[in-house]
Amino acid sequence: MAKTKTTYICQNCGATSAKWIGKCPACNEWNTYVEEVIEAPSKRAYTWDKTTDKKVSSKSPIPLSQVEEEDRGRIVCPDNELNRVLGGGIVPGSLVLVGGEPGIGKSTLMLQIAMRLRSINILYVSGEESSNQIRMRASRIGDLSDHLLIFTDTSSQEIFKHAKQIQPDLVIIDSIQTLHSNAVESTPGSVSQIRECTGELQRFAKESNTPVFIIGHITKDGQIAGPKVLEHMVDTVLQFEGDRNYTYRILRTTKNRFGSTAELGIYEMSGSGLREVANPSELLIPQREEILSGIAVAATVEGLRPMLIEVQALVGPAFYGTPQRSATGFDTRRLNMLLAVLEKRGGMQIGSKDVFINIAGGIRVDDPATDLAIIAALISSYEDASLDPDIAFAGEVGLSGEVRAVSKVDQRIAEADKLGFKQIFVSKYNHKLNLDKYKIEVVQVARVQDLYRKLFG
Ligand code: TYD
Ligand code: MG
Repeated sequence: MAKTKTTYICQNCGATSAKWIGKCPACNEWNTYVEEVIEAPSKRAYTWDKTTDKKVSSKSPIPLSQVEEEDRGRIVCPDNELNRVLGGGIVPGSLVLVGGEPGIGKSTLMLQIAMRLRSINILYVSGEESSNQIRMRASRIGDLSDHLLIFTDTSSQEIFKHAKQIQPDLVIIDSIQTLHSNAVESTPGSVSQIRECTGELQRFAKESNTPVFIIGHITKDGQIAGPKVLEHMVDTVLQFEGDRNYTYRILRTTKNRFGSTAELGIYEMSGSGLREVANPSELLIPQREEILSGIAVAATVEGLRPMLIEVQALVGPAFYGTPQRSATGFDTRRLNMLLAVLEKRGGMQIGSKDVFINIAGGIRVDDPATDLAIIAALISSYEDASLDPDIAFAGEVGLSGEVRAVSKVDQRIAEADKLGFKQIFVSKYNHKLNLDKYKIEVVQVARVQDLYRKLFG
């Protein structure tokens, strides 16, 4: 009998070593090496019958110009948010990873899309839930139809056996951490299993030209559980995120071989599945009766879409030693920088104050154009004077207090105009603005001091 072969694999990054080591030389994590049984690749579980698929017959190098241009067209989903994020629909033969924290709604999203894509045959493999549970969830989401086949097994061999028979047009795996392959002996969820199963799925997708969606869990620190290799092996990585206490969910592309990674899909979790949010601004700007201090509206662009978001700031005296600085939905380091700018350039004594920032709706913003709204909210809270709710802000703030130009400023102005804002503050350095188009008054400021003067005289 052949000796079983084992190797030590870093559970964080997937690096391998012949012996146990304490600190991974690849990712510098401590104590992540675990012994896993591996076996010769001759026992590979998945082998697609190559004679049935002429695309893989030629394996010798060929000139690029002679590669057949085969555009079978993308599968367009009845879900515009997903289409947008994928770059215009599902590419045949692509491998898409959908990552997200447990309970955020990955299974709901995939099941919902599968149920609505009635024109094609879909195989939904679940190792997480029983068919009964899936049925219960499905009844909440919508009408049932027989184009969708449910298979609750976790053996990759079984899955491919059935996939060959059924010949589905789309396969969904929920989740990669529950799958196991006979080719390796370690437990499901271990690095070598995840790597093997993803490899098999990749070969299946490419050789049968069937798109495959893989759901993957995310660890606390935002990494997709299992090795980084998983991200390298797939064509597209989608992150499903949001604050579980809020109903908004954001689908972000972090890698896409077939489209832009700047796109973003927005959903709202409802009692009957996820609802597409076509116009996010209207939801993120709450209607308020009272006008309070410390609130400003940022005209941001998330992905390629303009979105108006409410920014809240609270500046108060610090009662315990070191003042606190905390930001929800915004980078704390960036907040510290903006506070230093206010202190030094704006002459505000903010160093001894507690400062809290919150982006409404549980949204996280990365757009540097949010700076100006944050500054405005901070000043408003510091002075305890409210801002006119009909003002929006779009500008990046630099270290010397200058208000820098931002991209897509026309889109931002147009969005604020459309939503009935009366004034928008942008950088003076945004040239070539065609202001006649808009009803909204565009105020251009060069420095933080100008903003202060214009807002509070
Ligand atoms: P789920 O898709 O199971 O999350 P994941 O697969 O990412 O772990 O989502 C579970 C949550 O979604 C659960 O807390 C209930 C909620 N939910 C709704 O609010 N409405 C619905 O129609 C459905 C199906 C789920
Ligand atoms: Mg799930």
